[in-house]
Amino acid sequence: MKSVDVLLGLQWGDEGKGKVVDVLTPRYDVVARFQGGPNAGHTLEFEGQKYVLRSIPSGIFQGDKINVIGNGVVLDPALFRQEAEQLAASGHDVTRRLYISKKAHLIMPTHRVLDAAYEAAKGDARVGTTGKGIGPTYADKTSRNGLRVGDILGDFPAAYAKAKARHEAILQSLGYQYDITEAEREWLDAIEYLKQFTLIDSEFFINQLLDEGKSVLCEGAQGTMLDVDFGSYPFVTSSNTISAGACTGLGVAPRRIGEVYGIFKAYCTRVGAGPFPTELHDATGDLICDRGHEYGAVTGRKRRCGWIDLVALRYAVMLNGVTRLIMMKSDILDDFDTIKACVAYDIDGTETDRFPYDITHDITPVYAEMPGWKTDMSYMTDEDEFPEEFNAYISFIEDYLGVPIKIISLGPDRSQTIERYTEGE
Ligand code: GDP
Ligand code: IMO
Ligand code: MG
Repeated sequence: MKSVDVLLGLQWGDEGKGKVVDVLTPRYDVVARFQGGPNAGHTLEFEGQKYVLRSIPSGIFQGDKINVIGNGVVLDPALFRQEAEQLAASGHDVTRRLYISKKAHLIMPTHRVLDAAYEAAKGDARVGTTGKGIGPTYADKTSRNGLRVGDILGDFPAAYAKAKARHEAILQSLGYQYDITEAEREWLDAIEYLKQFTLIDSEFFINQLLDEGKSVLCEGAQGTMLDVDFGSYPFVTSSNTISAGACTGLGVAPRRIGEVYGIFKAYCTRVGAGPFPTELHDATGDLICDRGHEYGAVTGRKRRCGWIDLVALRYAVMLNGVTRLIMMKSDILDDFDTIKACVAYDIDGTETDRFPYDITHDITPVYAEMPGWKTDMSYMTDEDEFPEEFNAYISFIEDYLGVPIKIISLGPDRSQTIERYTEGE
């Protein structure tokens, strides 16, 4: 087995990555985030407590594990401080177990304003971003105007003033009104707070750990369908959420990558605007939303819900080189007479099982229908207890995607997780 495994979402985010990273962490020495930022909201539940992490890796609750925020991440010091202080208040001091790449880019208060201004300018075509300044920060990175975490150790006031002036000029040209006085004060205080953390050259740090025989679990944020290259562009986030992002976002070579864990919900959700072929605008969609408590972990926004989309999932499996699948929230479908799975798209009367270039086009999903299992599965602890209809659903998905489902999640708690073993493993 190689020593860098990647765990990432195969749908439009919120698949349950936080929960599974927490479950798998005991098997690894290091947990590392490689892209995204506080647009993420990763929920973990154990011992009756619930935590939502945005920038801090989900390995943080497990003993002496090393947690890394990689160079591919965009970090908002103010939100990071809030998150770290909340964890400290609940008895989890992260200062000594968290290492932050000097090459991670800083989200500035004006990036957040730009995010809002660009969304406002798009009108009806807005992306429905999380408003955390993600797009403008990655844009500054790519256009070589960004500020990095390592810059706080140098002549930071001058670099900050210059970057802020650029943003102000853009905002003025857009005629966008804003006031960042309070946010800026908090942000500058948080820059000082950040200095107590170990700021590292994470590419050297991680490669050295690997050379010493340590193992790393990379924690993806968002999901494959939000990838800036391969997702439902332009309704995407601004980073590479796919497995390749782990290489660029941490500085590990592709040959180091071992298992790729692809997570999906037993159905499908999306938050924000953009195409979603299997979205349900009916009572079934509302029922999935209610049963699944499908409201954003960070923004509280209602998530759009629909049946599982195997066309999009197969595309995601291909892009990521998924070796093991993880199916989440199966318990939410416990009470349905019929379960549907999208196996093809009907586009202008032509059926295809290939994810198309233009998914804003009118797509009618073609469904396979299966009987529901109508059994409360949330208390099950072994795959031998699975109802026959549920096993049929699993097999159908495995056959379509050509990859085994190795973990089944039946509830939000750490303990509600069942691993499936193949003979000989
Ligand atoms: P992430 O962004 O991929 O980490 O996922 P989120 O935390 O945003 O959303 C997943 C939600 O589903 C959270 O509220 C979890 O507590 C919850 N959850 C995770 N797995 C399961 C499961 O198997 N069953 C149920 N009922 N809830 C789950
Ligand atoms: P986790 O890691 C679900 C969505 C936003 C919007 C689009 C762009 O918790 O799965 P951005 O703020 O990134 O510029 O928004 O991406 N989005 C997410 N949707 N889960 C997430 O993260 C998301 N992060 C961003 O809703 O449609
Ligand atoms: Mg989330």
